[in-house]
Amino acid sequence: MTLGQKESWGSRVGLILAMAGNAVGLGNFLRFPVQAVNNGGGAFIIPYLVCFLLMGIPLLWIEWSMGRFGGRSNNHSTPFILDSMTKKAFWKYFGVFGIFTNIAVAAYYCYIESWTMSYVWHSIIGTFDGMSQTQVAQFFANYVDIDKSLTGIPYEAVVFYVLCLLLNTFILSRGLAGVERAAKIGIPLLLVFGAFLAIRGLTLGTSGASPEVPNASAWDGLNFLWTPQYSSLSDPKVWLAAAGQIFFTLSVGMGTIHCYAAYVRSKDDVALNAVSAGFTNEFVEVVLGSSIVIPIAAGYLGLDWVKENAGFGMAFQTMPFLFEKWGPILSTVAGVMWFGLLFFAGITSSLAMGTPWMGFMRDEFGWGRNKGAWSFGAIVLALGLPTVIFFEHGVFDEYDYWAGTVSLVVFALAESILFAWVFGIDKGWKELLSGSDLKVPTVYKFIIKYITPLMLLLVFLGALFTPTENDWTAAFHSMFSGNGWTLDNASILKTIANSGLHEQLAQASDPVEVARITDRLFYTNMARGLLTFTFAALAFLVYIAANRRLRSTTPADR
Ligand code: ALA
Repeated sequence: MTLGQKESWGSRVGLILAMAGNAVGLGNFLRFPVQAVNNGGGAFIIPYLVCFLLMGIPLLWIEWSMGRFGGRSNNHSTPFILDSMTKKAFWKYFGVFGIFTNIAVAAYYCYIESWTMSYVWHSIIGTFDGMSQTQVAQFFANYVDIDKSLTGIPYEAVVFYVLCLLLNTFILSRGLAGVERAAKIGIPLLLVFGAFLAIRGLTLGTSGASPEVPNASAWDGLNFLWTPQYSSLSDPKVWLAAAGQIFFTLSVGMGTIHCYAAYVRSKDDVALNAVSAGFTNEFVEVVLGSSIVIPIAAGYLGLDWVKENAGFGMAFQTMPFLFEKWGPILSTVAGVMWFGLLFFAGITSSLAMGTPWMGFMRDEFGWGRNKGAWSFGAIVLALGLPTVIFFEHGVFDEYDYWAGTVSLVVFALAESILFAWVFGIDKGWKELLSGSDLKVPTVYKFIIKYITPLMLLLVFLGALFTPTENDWTAAFHSMFSGNGWTLDNASILKTIANSGLHEQLAQASDPVEVARITDRLFYTNMARGLLTFTFAALAFLVYIAANRRLRSTTPADR
């Protein structure tokens, strides 16, 4: 069967697993713990859960409903799903985000996924045996600095990246059946691996504490994450971080959910399916995601170390060293399980990122699943290689910021307005309830209409106008006392202008430092250029597709 008009999911379990796989990803295990630690541990949890209930769940329902609605008229990607919901032609160009974000996120996401493949390999061959903590960290630093690759395979980072893309592309070329199969294998294995590591970590007690921190306990890590602190409720910074995590982890505002839901049969349930996939993701994130890296690291190195070093690289720079303490066999098993788990989490998400492009090209240009899949692989390779080769120069971060953060909010805001206000909440609600196996609480009609778009707007404005030092209290005081609002360099507006880098450049006198900042500016602008070009090219394809549609309809149809 081809990924096209007649294709649909093989079974309900397959669909839910594929949707859960789309959501459960590297974000659950790498991003969530770091966000939680950096935003005060228990201080993060309440805003996070509120964002899940008031933005996450409503957006899941909106996207599933939109997808099934669009699928009914044979539209399998957001430009024409959005178009099918309104008479205003410009909405389809908002839909470009739903293809663009996936391609751009896949470009850097598959790079992390390829690290996990490589680290499974290195765990098996015992690369980390006997290495000190510094050596394990250095291994990672060398791995991503492709000039310095010392791991025996020339350009190993590039080799694994290409392998990872080939695997994704191959599975995608099998159509939905391939995606479903990957989820049916990957998700159960991931759960088993995660449960094993969490239990092992939490039963460490204080047995592994290093001599410098004799009282370190794995439970300190868990307690830090789970003791709610109410002070954070008035801190917009924590709310912004929580909202960002909800978008990324649920894959809302991306376009993948619309695409998957477009292959749901028109009378099938979406309300319960959406909630099932969403709660599966939350279980994996808050239960498994918070029970592995942080507790294990806290158990050996102490909570203070975790707070100071929490970062995305911890999973690669520290975990292999800590696993070594479990003895030769268990450390290999743990390494394979940890990086295997990350790999399954990653691939079930990156596969989803391929489907909007394939659905679009199939619907509009008649491309079969092979052509769709391999062209996706080629585009991602072209866009992704700069993230691999120039990783150290910030290209990766730039993609993550614009595609993996800002675009999600922009698209989610647009689609929530379209669904509740343009398509209309009454029609939207009816669409959500049609075929539903769940009694959706009526209060959600109100939430979807008012609360979700309003919260999204606040998140967007908050990111656009983030004040200096992210200190909102000071910023409001300053504004009300007539001293204006000063933007932080991390605000979207200042980021666009590269203000932070320009300031650093103005202050730098050391030629090496000047060269470093100039280099960073160059690669930042290059990354933006590539992203803008990709967006523009996709918008152009949508324009061509719209004209083709217009030509193929008879005047009477219009
Ligand atoms: N939702 C996916 C993740 O969490 C993208 O990684």
